[in-house]
Amino acid sequence: MSVSVSVSVSVSDSDSVSVSVSDSDSVSVSVSVSVSVSVSVSVSVSVSVSVSVSVPDSDSVSVSDSDSVSVSVSVSVSVSDSDSVPVPVPDSDSVPVPVSVSVARLGAVAVVVGAWQDGGMGAGGVYVHFPYCAHHCAYCDFAVATPRRVPQGAFTEALVAELVLRGGALGGAARTLYIGGGTPSLWEPAELGRFLEAFRRSPGLEPGAELTLEANPAEVTAERVAAWRALGINRVSVGVQALDDRLLRAADRLHDAERAERALELIAGAGLVSWSLDLIFGLAGQSVADWEATLDRALAFAPPHISAYALTVEPRTMLARQVRDGRVRLPGDETQVRMLFSARERLRAAGYVHYEVSSYALPGHRAVHNAGYWEMRPYLGLGPGAHGFAPPERRVNVRRPRLYIERALAGDPVESVERLDPETLAFERVMTGLRDLERGVELAPDTERFLPSAEAEARAGRLRLEGTRAWLTDEGLRLMDSVLLKLLG
Ligand SMILES: C[S@@+](CC[C@H](N)C(=O)[O-])C[C@H]1O[C@@H](n2cnc3c(N)ncnc32)[C@H](O)[C@@H]1O
Ligand code: SF4
Repeated sequence: MSVSVSVSVSVSDSDSVSVSVSDSDSVSVSVSVSVSVSVSVSVSVSVSVSVSVSVPDSDSVSVSDSDSVSVSVSVSVSVSDSDSVPVPVPDSDSVPVPVSVSVARLGAVAVVVGAWQDGGMGAGGVYVHFPYCAHHCAYCDFAVATPRRVPQGAFTEALVAELVLRGGALGGAARTLYIGGGTPSLWEPAELGRFLEAFRRSPGLEPGAELTLEANPAEVTAERVAAWRALGINRVSVGVQALDDRLLRAADRLHDAERAERALELIAGAGLVSWSLDLIFGLAGQSVADWEATLDRALAFAPPHISAYALTVEPRTMLARQVRDGRVRLPGDETQVRMLFSARERLRAAGYVHYEVSSYALPGHRAVHNAGYWEMRPYLGLGPGAHGFAPPERRVNVRRPRLYIERALAGDPVESVERLDPETLAFERVMTGLRDLERGVELAPDTERFLPSAEAEARAGRLRLEGTRAWLTDEGLRLMDSVLLKLLG
């Protein structure tokens, strides 16, 4: 009985490298020219059963001169004595299989044949990234561009193209839709409406689905809010950051406190199902008393949900350079921790549940979409730099908006697909699950190995452990990074 495996790699227009191997199941090919790669694998057993795996056109990648490509295919066929070989073949002869591509700047491009079609995404959420902003804030490391004119039409078209391409992967209507940025409040309502119309056609929204739009105070006007409501947006999240002009200037924000408060008034009176505001603590020149004053001013609007983020110095930002050069001095870790606990105390006293490390909600107003991330639910990410997660795979789109538009219109906006191994998935599940202060995280069955260290952390008062479920205590919240290190290390 003979088994033959053939792999063909087509390089640029018509160059091709083909390798044929007998009785062997592993092939590796290196190519060191500028290539557009498409891989097709066919396995044939002498009894004319054939499985062909084709990679869609859209999974192609450009590689620079010095990159190399390696392809490895593992095929195992067990053959019985008889000439008839039971090889499971799906209904259709040709199965589209995604290709996971990770590009290291000067290294190799590894192409691994994966199985995107393993199970759907269930009732997943959808994240849409609108990348344009009026100004790039010094602390921000999100995928952002600040063109003089936002290419509204081209961007919407690209997004709809990606929706058509990927919407089916959701396997049904979306449970939540979150339009984040960037500054989605800059999206012209007519264009946003065009996108939402396409979205409602396919994949659709579950009845009562949470539909959030992030807004910056500058664009919150009565007309815009009415237009959003008319389009079905039922939750708005406003980026306030601080209600103090000195701190807003220091944080490099465009708006002042008065503009932010006008926006909050409009949103609070708009009759939305829910709304939220974002605050940042640990800003340059901010004292605990300043932070508490911002909290009190924000509470006057009775927001159903508040996100309070500790300022993170992201390495590639202007803020990181300013801190490095000594031009900006930030409050120390101790002060940040005091700010976290003063928010916890103040907001709890006002009736909020501190349900996630950075999130507070009045009863019934937990952020459904964000909770999906902490619960490791599948979600689809659309737009530049957007991430999507369909266990065990994570996809990331190209980050630069202009390139995204080009690539989405050409049918391939994906930059990389990473297939997470069970160990990494379990690790991430515990890391994100512990952020949920209300529900905690289950340490079984896939993460039972963390139980002995969880018991030690519980004895030290940093975790509460009931059976195999763990929660951060106040002390654990204070020392969260070290708890995670000890637990998972
Ligand atoms: C990406 S922004 C988009 C929202 C909107 N463009 C804005 O700036 O208000 C979402 C939220 O992330 C938070 N954020 C962004 N960069 C941060 C950082 N370096 N540290 C802490 N929070 C940050 C801010 O609170 C912001 O409102
Ligand atoms: S914080 Fe918001 S407004 Fe500022 S650059 Fe980032 S996304 Fe744009």
